[in-house]
Amino acid sequence: MESNHSLLIEKLKQALVECKTEQELIKIKADFLGKNGSITKEFEQIKFAEDKKATGQVLNSVKNEAEELIKACKSKFEKIIEDHYFDISQPGRDIKIGTRHPITLTINDITKIFNSYGFSEVSGKEIETEFYNFEALNIPKNHPARDMHDTFYVDVNNLLRTHTSSVQIHSMLKYKAPLKIMTPGKVYRCDSDPTHSPMFHQIEGLYIDENVNFCHLKGILIQFINDYFGSNVEIRFRPSYFPFTEPSAELDIKFRGKWLEVLGCGMVHNSVLENVKISTKRFTGFAFGLGVERLAMLKYDIKDLRLFYENDMNFLRQFEGIK
Ligand code: PHE
Repeated sequence: MESNHSLLIEKLKQALVECKTEQELIKIKADFLGKNGSITKEFEQIKFAEDKKATGQVLNSVKNEAEELIKACKSKFEKIIEDHYFDISQPGRDIKIGTRHPITLTINDITKIFNSYGFSEVSGKEIETEFYNFEALNIPKNHPARDMHDTFYVDVNNLLRTHTSSVQIHSMLKYKAPLKIMTPGKVYRCDSDPTHSPMFHQIEGLYIDENVNFCHLKGILIQFINDYFGSNVEIRFRPSYFPFTEPSAELDIKFRGKWLEVLGCGMVHNSVLENVKISTKRFTGFAFGLGVERLAMLKYDIKDLRLFYENDMNFLRQFEGIK
């Protein structure tokens, strides 16, 4: 008799463990304690017992224990409901809307301006082969930029692009000439100080057509600086060297009495056009690559470039509302 009673309790415990809903619990309660429940039925057996009093006491304690177990399970369900209850009349939480990142704002500003000059936006890949990042751009094997100290290599042949000029090659191979594109994106170099970050943004421009010359390049870039800063800022073109342009120049703008370099540019080198099988007899072109962070720093008077990547809300909130 004893073991039969403890078996009933074990069965009840098992049923409660598997019980998932309140409806199931009602059924379990009926199965054990209802009119035809297995515990109730045991009471009918008392009359056949040798010691009726003792058996009755044992059964009562089994019944009490069963009731306790069922009650505990019921309050577990009530707690779940309580935990999921919320007051629909309460006012909503204040959801903060983010702001556009200053780099995004700057890229949008710049691409909008170049779009108005007829440049179409194309996108490129951040992982490049040496061919697109160096070889096709006339950057020889012994060039310092190809050193591990300057470039992040992914493996022997793949690297994180060091400039957006790699997209020039992809675009010329894909679209041929004439061509007028710009391509914003992230670039990577082993560099880190207040004015250099290992990752930064560039916007590349490329214009290939018949009779494109250096005057077009100068004209468009002067126009751009005026459109971007909204006033006549002092600028100068300084002769420079890039393996993929000839002649090459850098554009500086005067900021707080000092000249600051903001972009590199030049006429696309014949070797580059030959590499992508564009006729150098028929076509010429210019290219430029500008540093987005530099232009953002100048426009918003930011002294440390690393502020762009620290996700400091106090810094980022200052750009709230700027479209
Ligand atoms: N790719 C050059 C750089 O990253 C910039 C550049 C682009 C110069 C196009 C000339 C023409 O410094």
